[in-house]
Amino acid sequence: MAFSVQKNVPLAPYTTLGVGGNAEYFIEVHSLEELRDAVVWARNNACATKILGGGSNVLISDAGIQGLVIRPLLNTITYTEEGEHTLVTVGAGVVLDTLVQELVHKKLWGLENFSAIPGSVGAVPIQNVGAYGVEAKDVVHAVTVFDMEGDSLYEMTNAECQFAYRDSYFKHTDKKLIIVSVTFVVTKNPFPRIAYKELSEIFSTKDEVMIDSVRDAIVRIRSKKFPDWRVVGTAGSFFKNPIIEEKEYARLREVYPELPGYVHGANTIKIPLGWVLDHVCKLKGYTEGRVKLFEQQALVLVCEKNIEAIEIENFAQKIIDRVYAMTSIVIEKEVTQLN
Ligand code: EPU
Repeated sequence: MAFSVQKNVPLAPYTTLGVGGNAEYFIEVHSLEELRDAVVWARNNACATKILGGGSNVLISDAGIQGLVIRPLLNTITYTEEGEHTLVTVGAGVVLDTLVQELVHKKLWGLENFSAIPGSVGAVPIQNVGAYGVEAKDVVHAVTVFDMEGDSLYEMTNAECQFAYRDSYFKHTDKKLIIVSVTFVVTKNPFPRIAYKELSEIFSTKDEVMIDSVRDAIVRIRSKKFPDWRVVGTAGSFFKNPIIEEKEYARLREVYPELPGYVHGANTIKIPLGWVLDHVCKLKGYTEGRVKLFEQQALVLVCEKNIEAIEIENFAQKIIDRVYAMTSIVIEKEVTQLN
Protein backbone atom coordinates (compact mmCIF):
# COMPACT_ATOMS: atom_id res chain seq x y z
CA MET A 1 0.00 0.00 0.00
CA ALA A 2 1.37 3.43 -0.94
CA PHE A 3 2.36 5.66 1.95
CA SER A 4 0.13 8.72 1.86
CA VAL A 5 -0.41 11.39 4.49
CA GLN A 6 -3.66 13.31 3.99
CA LYS A 7 -4.23 16.92 5.01
CA ASN A 8 -7.20 18.49 6.87
CA VAL A 9 -9.19 15.33 7.43
CA PRO A 10 -12.50 15.59 9.36
CA LEU A 11 -12.26 13.30 12.39
CA ALA A 12 -15.94 13.26 13.44
CA PRO A 13 -16.77 10.28 11.15
CA TYR A 14 -14.01 8.29 12.88
CA THR A 15 -15.67 8.65 16.29
CA THR A 16 -18.89 7.23 17.73
CA LEU A 17 -19.84 10.62 19.19
CA GLY A 18 -19.59 11.99 15.66
CA VAL A 19 -18.23 15.41 16.65
CA GLY A 20 -14.95 17.31 16.51
CA GLY A 21 -12.72 19.17 14.06
CA ASN A 22 -10.06 18.10 11.57
CA ALA A 23 -6.73 16.36 11.82
CA GLU A 24 -4.04 18.62 10.40
CA TYR A 25 -2.46 15.47 8.96
CA PHE A 26 -3.89 11.95 8.96
CA ILE A 27 -2.72 8.48 8.00
CA GLU A 28 -4.01 4.93 8.35
CA VAL A 29 -1.24 2.36 8.80
CA HIS A 30 -1.65 -1.33 7.99
CA SER A 31 1.71 -2.74 9.09
CA LEU A 32 4.56 -2.09 11.47
CA GLU A 33 6.65 -0.80 8.55
CA GLU A 34 3.98 1.76 7.64
CA LEU A 35 3.73 2.75 11.29
CA ARG A 36 7.49 3.32 11.43
CA ASP A 37 7.35 5.36 8.19
CA ALA A 38 4.55 7.52 9.66
CA VAL A 39 6.56 8.19 12.81
CA VAL A 40 9.64 9.12 10.76
CA TRP A 41 7.47 11.40 8.58
CA ALA A 42 6.15 13.18 11.69
CA ARG A 43 9.68 13.58 13.07
CA ASN A 44 10.99 14.98 9.76
CA ASN A 45 8.07 17.42 9.60
CA ALA A 46 8.36 18.42 13.28
CA CYS A 47 4.81 17.24 13.87
CA ALA A 48 3.26 16.00 17.09
CA THR A 49 1.57 12.61 16.78
CA LYS A 50 -1.72 11.33 18.21
CA ILE A 51 -3.22 7.87 17.92
CA LEU A 52 -6.88 7.34 17.08
CA GLY A 53 -8.24 3.82 17.49
CA GLY A 54 -11.89 2.85 17.11
CA GLY A 55 -12.96 6.34 18.24
CA SER A 56 -15.54 4.98 20.67
CA ASN A 57 -14.23 6.66 23.79
CA VAL A 58 -12.98 10.03 22.59
CA LEU A 59 -14.30 13.55 22.48
CA ILE A 60 -12.39 15.55 19.87
CA SER A 61 -12.50 19.32 20.26
CA ASP A 62 -13.89 21.62 17.60
CA ALA A 63 -10.37 22.91 16.92
CA GLY A 64 -9.38 19.40 15.87
CA ILE A 65 -5.89 17.99 16.26
CA GLN A 66 -2.66 19.68 15.21
CA GLY A 67 0.06 17.40 13.88
CA LEU A 68 -0.27 13.86 12.55
CA VAL A 69 -3.14 11.59 13.61
CA ILE A 70 -2.21 7.94 13.11
CA ARG A 71 -4.95 5.31 12.85
CA PRO A 72 -3.41 1.86 13.35
CA LEU A 73 -5.25 -0.75 11.27
CA LEU A 74 -2.94 -3.67 12.12
CA ASN A 75 -5.30 -6.60 11.85
CA THR A 76 -3.62 -9.96 12.35
CA ILE A 77 -4.86 -12.59 14.83
CA THR A 78 -2.57 -15.50 15.80
CA TYR A 79 -3.21 -18.39 18.18
CA THR A 80 -0.61 -20.23 20.30
CA GLU A 81 -1.74 -23.18 22.37
CA GLU A 82 -0.15 -23.53 25.79
CA GLY A 83 -1.70 -26.56 27.46
CA GLU A 84 -5.12 -25.66 28.82
CA HIS A 85 -4.72 -22.09 27.65
CA THR A 86 -4.46 -20.37 24.32
CA LEU A 87 -2.62 -17.10 23.81
CA VAL A 88 -4.28 -14.96 21.17
CA THR A 89 -2.17 -12.13 19.80
CA VAL A 90 -4.34 -9.53 18.13
CA GLY A 91 -3.40 -6.47 16.07
CA ALA A 92 -4.43 -3.12 17.58
CA GLY A 93 -6.74 -2.35 14.68
CA VAL A 94 -8.97 -5.42 15.01
CA VAL A 95 -12.52 -4.45 15.99
CA LEU A 96 -13.01 -5.78 19.53
CA ASP A 97 -16.40 -7.30 18.85
CA THR A 98 -15.10 -9.06 15.72
CA LEU A 99 -12.49 -10.71 17.93
CA VAL A 100 -15.09 -11.63 20.56
CA GLN A 101 -17.30 -13.21 17.89
CA GLU A 102 -14.37 -15.25 16.57
CA LEU A 103 -13.45 -16.49 20.07
CA VAL A 104 -17.06 -17.37 20.88
CA HIS A 105 -17.27 -19.27 17.60
CA LYS A 106 -14.10 -21.20 18.53
CA LYS A 107 -15.52 -21.79 22.05
CA LEU A 108 -12.53 -20.10 23.65
CA TRP A 109 -13.59 -18.54 26.98
CA GLY A 110 -12.33 -15.22 28.31
CA LEU A 111 -13.61 -12.25 26.33
CA GLU A 112 -17.31 -13.10 25.86
CA ASN A 113 -18.37 -10.58 28.54
CA PHE A 114 -16.94 -7.87 26.25
CA SER A 115 -19.56 -8.63 23.61
CA ALA A 116 -20.93 -5.64 21.69
CA ILE A 117 -18.47 -3.12 23.13
CA PRO A 118 -17.54 -0.76 20.30
CA GLY A 119 -13.92 0.13 19.56
CA SER A 120 -10.67 -1.52 18.60
CA VAL A 121 -8.39 -3.93 20.45
CA GLY A 122 -5.56 -1.38 20.84
CA ALA A 123 -7.74 0.68 23.20
CA VAL A 124 -8.57 -2.21 25.51
CA PRO A 125 -5.47 -1.97 27.76
CA ILE A 126 -5.37 1.84 27.84
CA GLN A 127 -8.50 2.32 29.91
CA ASN A 128 -8.60 -1.25 31.28
CA VAL A 129 -11.92 -1.82 29.52
CA GLY A 130 -14.43 -3.57 31.74
CA ALA A 131 -17.94 -4.94 31.44
CA TYR A 132 -20.15 -7.40 33.28
CA GLY A 133 -17.60 -8.43 35.87
CA VAL A 134 -14.56 -8.82 33.58
CA GLU A 135 -11.79 -6.28 33.08
CA ALA A 136 -8.89 -6.17 30.63
CA LYS A 137 -6.57 -6.89 33.55
CA ASP A 138 -8.19 -10.36 33.89
CA VAL A 139 -7.59 -11.38 30.27
CA VAL A 140 -4.57 -9.43 29.00
CA HIS A 141 -1.41 -11.54 29.04
CA ALA A 142 0.92 -8.97 27.44
CA VAL A 143 0.89 -5.83 25.35
CA THR A 144 3.33 -5.10 22.51
CA VAL A 145 4.20 -1.44 22.11
CA PHE A 146 6.21 0.62 19.67
CA ASP A 147 8.21 3.38 21.34
CA MET A 148 8.16 6.27 18.85
CA GLU A 149 11.09 8.13 20.36
CA GLY A 150 13.26 5.10 21.07
CA ASP A 151 12.27 3.48 17.75
CA SER A 152 11.95 0.15 19.56
CA LEU A 153 9.34 -2.57 19.83
CA TYR A 154 8.86 -4.42 23.10
CA GLU A 155 6.43 -6.47 25.13
CA MET A 156 4.96 -5.38 28.46
CA THR A 157 3.60 -7.87 30.98
CA ASN A 158 0.18 -7.57 32.57
CA ALA A 159 1.80 -6.27 35.79
CA GLU A 160 3.78 -3.64 33.89
CA CYS A 161 0.51 -2.27 32.47
CA GLN A 162 -0.49 -1.21 36.05
CA PHE A 163 -4.18 -1.76 35.47
CA ALA A 164 -6.67 0.00 37.73
CA TYR A 165 -10.31 1.07 37.37
CA ARG A 166 -10.53 2.55 33.84
CA ASP A 167 -6.84 3.33 34.14
CA SER A 168 -3.39 1.99 33.24
CA TYR A 169 0.27 2.89 32.80
CA PHE A 170 -0.54 4.04 29.26
CA LYS A 171 -2.60 6.98 30.55
CA HIS A 172 0.28 8.30 32.64
CA THR A 173 3.57 7.55 30.94
CA ASP A 174 5.56 10.35 29.31
CA LYS A 175 6.84 7.87 26.75
CA LYS A 176 5.32 8.10 23.28
CA LEU A 177 4.01 4.56 22.98
CA ILE A 178 1.74 3.01 20.37
CA ILE A 179 0.05 -0.27 21.21
CA VAL A 180 0.57 -2.50 18.18
CA SER A 181 -0.90 -5.75 19.52
CA VAL A 182 -2.47 -7.26 22.60
CA THR A 183 -2.02 -10.88 23.70
CA PHE A 184 -5.05 -12.26 25.52
CA VAL A 185 -5.17 -15.49 27.47
CA VAL A 186 -8.27 -17.61 26.79
CA THR A 187 -9.22 -21.19 27.58
CA LYS A 188 -11.23 -24.00 26.02
CA ASN A 189 -12.38 -25.08 29.50
CA PRO A 190 -15.81 -23.55 30.11
CA PHE A 191 -15.36 -20.60 32.47
CA PRO A 192 -18.61 -18.62 32.63
CA ARG A 193 -18.48 -15.36 34.58
CA ILE A 194 -22.11 -14.72 35.38
CA ALA A 195 -21.97 -13.27 38.89
CA TYR A 196 -22.80 -9.75 37.66
CA LYS A 197 -26.35 -8.99 38.82
CA GLU A 198 -28.02 -8.81 35.44
CA LEU A 199 -26.36 -12.07 34.30
CA SER A 200 -27.08 -13.99 37.50
CA GLU A 201 -30.73 -13.13 36.97
CA ILE A 202 -30.61 -14.93 33.61
CA PHE A 203 -28.34 -17.89 34.39
CA SER A 204 -28.45 -20.26 37.31
CA THR A 205 -24.98 -21.47 38.37
CA LYS A 206 -26.34 -25.01 38.38
CA ASP A 207 -27.04 -25.00 34.64
CA GLU A 208 -24.47 -25.80 32.02
CA VAL A 209 -23.79 -22.37 30.56
CA MET A 210 -22.83 -22.18 26.89
CA ILE A 211 -20.48 -19.48 25.62
CA ASP A 212 -22.93 -18.40 22.89
CA SER A 213 -25.68 -17.91 25.47
CA VAL A 214 -23.44 -15.61 27.52
CA ARG A 215 -22.72 -13.55 24.42
CA ASP A 216 -26.40 -13.45 23.43
CA ALA A 217 -27.44 -12.39 26.95
CA ILE A 218 -24.90 -9.56 27.02
CA VAL A 219 -25.84 -8.34 23.56
CA ARG A 220 -29.48 -8.24 24.73
CA ILE A 221 -28.69 -6.45 28.03
CA ARG A 222 -26.50 -3.89 26.28
CA SER A 223 -29.02 -3.19 23.53
CA LYS A 224 -31.47 -2.05 26.23
CA LYS A 225 -28.96 0.17 28.06
CA PHE A 226 -26.84 1.61 25.29
CA PRO A 227 -28.07 3.48 22.24
CA ASP A 228 -26.86 2.41 18.79
CA TRP A 229 -23.79 4.53 17.98
CA ARG A 230 -24.47 4.01 14.30
CA VAL A 231 -27.65 6.05 14.73
CA VAL A 232 -26.87 8.64 17.44
CA GLY A 233 -23.71 10.14 18.93
CA THR A 234 -22.56 8.29 22.07
CA ALA A 235 -19.38 7.09 23.77
CA GLY A 236 -20.93 4.63 26.24
CA SER A 237 -20.44 5.66 29.86
CA PHE A 238 -19.45 9.31 29.65
CA PHE A 239 -18.26 9.61 33.28
CA LYS A 240 -16.40 7.27 35.64
CA ASN A 241 -18.13 5.75 38.62
CA PRO A 242 -16.66 7.73 41.54
CA ILE A 243 -14.60 6.00 44.21
CA ILE A 244 -15.16 7.69 47.57
CA GLU A 245 -14.07 7.31 51.20
CA GLU A 246 -16.13 4.98 53.39
CA LYS A 247 -17.04 7.83 55.75
CA GLU A 248 -18.18 9.96 52.84
CA TYR A 249 -20.36 7.05 51.70
CA ALA A 250 -21.82 6.72 55.22
CA ARG A 251 -22.64 10.44 55.19
CA LEU A 252 -24.43 10.16 51.83
CA ARG A 253 -26.34 7.05 52.96
CA GLU A 254 -27.87 9.12 55.75
CA VAL A 255 -29.44 11.33 53.11
CA TYR A 256 -29.98 8.63 50.45
CA PRO A 257 -30.42 5.34 52.34
CA GLU A 258 -30.70 3.32 49.12
CA LEU A 259 -27.47 4.58 47.52
CA PRO A 260 -25.68 1.43 46.26
CA GLY A 261 -21.95 1.03 46.91
CA TYR A 262 -19.32 -1.63 46.25
CA VAL A 263 -16.14 -2.10 48.28
CA HIS A 264 -13.21 -0.99 46.13
CA GLY A 265 -9.86 -1.26 47.88
CA ALA A 266 -9.13 -0.31 51.47
CA ASN A 267 -11.67 2.08 53.02
CA THR A 268 -13.03 3.14 49.65
CA ILE A 269 -16.37 2.50 47.97
CA LYS A 270 -17.26 2.68 44.29
CA ILE A 271 -20.71 4.13 43.73
CA PRO A 272 -22.77 3.84 40.54
CA LEU A 273 -22.97 7.33 39.14
CA GLY A 274 -25.89 6.24 36.94
CA TRP A 275 -27.90 5.75 40.14
CA VAL A 276 -26.85 9.15 41.50
CA LEU A 277 -27.69 10.95 38.26
CA ASP A 278 -31.04 9.17 38.17
CA HIS A 279 -32.26 9.09 41.79
CA VAL A 280 -30.34 11.95 43.43
CA CYS A 281 -29.95 14.52 40.66
CA LYS A 282 -33.06 13.50 38.70
CA LEU A 283 -31.13 13.93 35.49
CA LYS A 284 -32.10 10.76 33.61
CA GLY A 285 -33.26 11.90 30.18
CA TYR A 286 -32.18 15.49 30.96
CA THR A 287 -31.86 17.31 27.64
CA GLU A 288 -30.32 20.58 26.55
CA GLY A 289 -30.42 21.38 22.87
CA ARG A 290 -29.05 18.39 21.02
CA VAL A 291 -27.39 16.67 24.00
CA LYS A 292 -29.01 14.51 26.70
CA LEU A 293 -28.46 11.83 29.32
CA PHE A 294 -29.96 8.64 27.93
CA GLU A 295 -33.45 7.66 29.19
CA GLN A 296 -32.42 4.02 29.72
CA GLN A 297 -29.06 4.69 31.46
CA ALA A 298 -28.26 8.11 32.87
CA LEU A 299 -24.47 7.56 32.71
CA VAL A 300 -24.64 7.47 28.92
CA LEU A 301 -24.54 10.80 27.12
CA VAL A 302 -26.30 10.92 23.77
CA CYS A 303 -26.08 13.66 21.15
CA GLU A 304 -26.92 14.39 17.58
CA LYS A 305 -23.98 13.65 15.34
CA ASN A 306 -22.09 16.57 13.81
CA ILE A 307 -22.99 19.12 16.48
CA GLU A 308 -20.20 21.25 17.95
CA ALA A 309 -18.06 19.56 20.58
CA ILE A 310 -18.40 22.64 22.78
CA GLU A 311 -22.13 21.82 23.24
CA ILE A 312 -21.14 18.49 24.77
CA GLU A 313 -18.33 20.03 26.86
CA ASN A 314 -20.71 22.65 28.32
CA PHE A 315 -23.41 20.06 28.97
CA ALA A 316 -20.92 17.72 30.70
CA GLN A 317 -19.65 20.58 32.89
CA LYS A 318 -23.23 21.29 34.02
CA ILE A 319 -23.63 17.65 35.01
CA ILE A 320 -20.31 17.72 36.89
CA ASP A 321 -21.41 20.90 38.73
CA ARG A 322 -24.87 19.51 39.55
CA VAL A 323 -23.44 16.28 41.01
CA TYR A 324 -21.01 18.32 43.10
CA ALA A 325 -23.76 20.63 44.35
CA MET A 326 -25.98 17.71 45.38
CA THR A 327 -23.36 15.29 46.78
CA SER A 328 -19.97 17.08 47.12
CA ILE A 329 -18.53 14.37 44.86
CA VAL A 330 -16.11 15.48 42.15
CA ILE A 331 -16.76 13.29 39.12
CA GLU A 332 -14.46 12.75 36.16
CA LYS A 333 -15.06 12.14 32.49
CA GLU A 334 -14.53 8.57 31.38
CA VAL A 335 -14.08 9.57 27.74
CA THR A 336 -10.70 10.89 26.68
CA GLN A 337 -10.69 14.47 25.49
CA LEU A 338 -8.43 14.96 22.45
CA ASN A 339 -7.26 18.41 21.38
N1 EPU B 1 -28.67 2.91 37.59
C1 EPU B 1 -29.83 3.63 37.86
N2 EPU B 1 -30.26 4.53 36.93
C2 EPU B 1 -29.58 4.75 35.78
C3 EPU B 1 -28.42 4.02 35.51
C4 EPU B 1 -27.97 3.08 36.43
O1 EPU B 1 -30.46 3.46 38.89
O2 EPU B 1 -30.03 5.60 34.99
C5 EPU B 1 -28.20 1.91 38.58
C6 EPU B 1 -28.40 0.49 38.05
O3 EPU B 1 -29.67 -0.01 38.37
C7 EPU B 1 -27.31 -0.27 38.76
C8 EPU B 1 -26.20 0.75 38.92
O4 EPU B 1 -26.79 2.03 38.76
O5 EPU B 1 -27.72 -0.65 40.05
C9 EPU B 1 -25.06 0.56 37.94
O6 EPU B 1 -25.53 0.62 36.60
P1 EPU B 1 -25.03 -0.42 35.49
O7 EPU B 1 -25.04 -1.79 36.02
O8 EPU B 1 -25.81 -0.12 34.25
O9 EPU B 1 -23.51 -0.14 35.23
P2 EPU B 1 -22.64 1.19 35.19
O10 EPU B 1 -21.89 1.32 36.45
O11 EPU B 1 -23.47 2.36 34.83
C10 EPU B 1 -20.51 0.07 34.17
C11 EPU B 1 -19.45 0.47 33.18
C12 EPU B 1 -19.87 0.13 31.76
C13 EPU B 1 -20.16 -1.36 31.68
C14 EPU B 1 -21.28 -1.68 32.69
C15 EPU B 1 -21.59 -3.15 32.75
C16 EPU B 1 -18.26 2.41 34.06
C17 EPU B 1 -18.05 3.88 33.99
N3 EPU B 1 -19.19 1.92 33.26
O12 EPU B 1 -21.65 0.91 33.96
O13 EPU B 1 -18.76 0.39 30.92
O14 EPU B 1 -20.56 -1.73 30.38
O15 EPU B 1 -20.85 -1.29 34.01
O16 EPU B 1 -20.55 -3.86 33.35
O17 EPU B 1 -17.57 1.72 34.83
C18 EPU B 1 -17.84 2.20 29.61
O18 EPU B 1 -16.88 2.23 30.36
O19 EPU B 1 -17.97 3.02 28.63
C19 EPU B 1 -18.92 1.26 29.84
C20 EPU B 1 -19.97 1.25 29.07
